[in-house]
Amino acid sequence: MKKILLSLLIASVSTLFAADGAEIYKAKCFSCHGEKAAKVALNKSQIIAGWDADKIIASVNGYKNGEGGAMKGVMKPIAVGLNDDDLKAVAATIASYK
Ligand code: HEC
Repeated sequence: MKKILLSLLIASVSTLFAADGAEIYKAKCFSCHGEKAAKVALNKSQIIAGWDADKIIASVNGYKNGEGGAMKGVMKPIAVGLNDDDLKAVAATIASYK
């Protein structure tokens, strides 16, 4: 029982640290949006480096709701997989890339 409690504690602590925008970007966005978000993802997206965090959040939430461009189907599962904290953190990171 103690072991279970301990691992729950460790799991919740690492969730706290998980909202690290740069880590999330590397793990979930980098492969398509590239180094410092300066790449056109799959030859289709706009370059999102330096976008306002609010604009990024609105855009990603739009994908959750089925909005977006011709390739929105690519972004939808990614958007759905981000909770609000992660999205806020990663949006701030991308906004800081200029
Ligand atoms: C599998 C490749 C892929 C990954 C991974 C990916 N994206 Fe995208 N992203 C795209 C494509 C393709 C588009 C253009 C979609 C469209 O047509 O609307 C896009 C569009 C966007 C847009 C809107 C830009 C525009 O063109 O309107 C934002 C903001 C965005 N992505 C953020 C993210 C974030 C944040 C992550 C990581 C959590 C991420 N993306 C991960 C491929 C990807």
